[in-house]
Amino acid sequence: RPHFNILITGTLALSVFTAVLGSLQFGYNIGVVNAPQKIIEQDYNSTWMERYAEPIPPQTLTSLWSLSVAIFSIGGMLSSFSVGILSEFFGRRKAMLINNVLAFIGGGLMGMSKISRSFEMMILGRFTIGAYCGLASGLVPMYVGEIAPTTLRGALGTLHQLAIVTGILMAQILGLESLLGSEQLWPVLLGVTILPTVLQMTLLPFCPESPRFLYIVRSQEHHAKSALRRLTGRLEVSEDFAEMKEEKRKMDMERKVSIAELFRSPLYQQPIIISILLQLSQQLSGINAIFYYSTDIFKNAGVESPVYATIGAGVVNCAFTIVSLFLVERMGRRTLHMLGLAGMCICAILMTIALTLLETVPSMSYLSIMAIFGFVGFFEVGPGPIPWFFVAELFSQGPRPAAIAVAGCSNWTANFLIGMSFQYVANLCGPYVFLIFALLLLFFLVFTFFRVPETRGKTFDQISATFHRHPQNMMDMDLDMDQGKHSTELDYLGSDGT
Ligand code: GLC
Repeated sequence: RPHFNILITGTLALSVFTAVLGSLQFGYNIGVVNAPQKIIEQDYNSTWMERYAEPIPPQTLTSLWSLSVAIFSIGGMLSSFSVGILSEFFGRRKAMLINNVLAFIGGGLMGMSKISRSFEMMILGRFTIGAYCGLASGLVPMYVGEIAPTTLRGALGTLHQLAIVTGILMAQILGLESLLGSEQLWPVLLGVTILPTVLQMTLLPFCPESPRFLYIVRSQEHHAKSALRRLTGRLEVSEDFAEMKEEKRKMDMERKVSIAELFRSPLYQQPIIISILLQLSQQLSGINAIFYYSTDIFKNAGVESPVYATIGAGVVNCAFTIVSLFLVERMGRRTLHMLGLAGMCICAILMTIALTLLETVPSMSYLSIMAIFGFVGFFEVGPGPIPWFFVAELFSQGPRPAAIAVAGCSNWTANFLIGMSFQYVANLCGPYVFLIFALLLLFFLVFTFFRVPETRGKTFDQISATFHRHPQNMMDMDLDMDQGKHSTELDYLGSDGT
């Protein structure tokens, strides 16, 4: 069992905290548009009246609002692709620092759009803050994964997701009409995303750069060692360093890994396919149908106070991320991911039953609340946190930036597709819309069972060796995974026994 108090030094805690301030903004900006929709739409309308002396046509208003919501993911899609280049060129820490410029511009544009009477500014602001979040969604797990000690990589990696869900919950609460979700204050609601930015810029200079980046990529042995000393709180770091040395030796033999090569080289094909599918399992589970449209979903399911049910979902979301934080180093990634997918699948079926029977049995609205809470809870056990840090785990230093870029971009693309199409598909399928998610979840469950290896407690080098040994032979892969599972169980028993 990991010894939290020994392994977590002040510098490590500060560095992880500072990094995940970026994740906090990611979550905040996902959740922030749910509640104040009607109020902001009124402002769009009055701007239109001033300009054209007539009320805005309803269809134009719907399009403008959908665009304001969805352009966020387009920003993320585009920027997440450049995570690799930025993190290699500037380093992890400086890339995070520079990214803050986008948050200032985005938050500023959104916050000023009402005074300037311009919905164009709001849309541009959403795009820019989306671009910020796209970069953060790659840079944060990369940095955290690289500075974390092996035995805590999963737990610290989960903090990225914990900050995201905290951000969502903060946005849901602040978005209440009695707080910042009002006619006068909504620009503040959207603009306060600048506060964590200021805090992050103040703290980043006190955080060390990733020692792996300094040594393996930049060959700066001296700097790498002193960063490692600060992070571990130990003067003697030769053991950790030996492991990095081995990784560097291997990396120096490889050519630089481009995105195209990830798909071509038999060494990387397996892990990149796994990374992409895990990201897709996260988004195509339908989770953001809840976080973008829950108020509507609850209303259609006959729930009396849908806004509070939405906040309830946000609380469940946070609570179960904390559960996962404590389980991930004991039960492993694979088991938790499968448990989460299976639970979500069952909840999606329950939700379908609740919606189908609603007409005849009004108390079904309670079942639908339980089903949605369960859906969200199981999501955070595995499919929420794990895909984000798993990519950083599956690749060694060389291919990691390119892999994170590809995986992040698939995540944002799927996020965009769900955000754009859910309401349309829901209208088309009525109560059966959640069955689509149930089927997708089943598919991802089967995929995870057959293809995803366990990474818990292994060094980056050991993990990539899983794929290097039998890059193309799937039977051997399965064998590896079986062994992985056995050792997981044994370790687990062992750690319980002590
Ligand atoms: C994950 C997803 C994000 C989603 C959130 C919900 O971070 O990437 O899209 O909104 O979980 O908690």
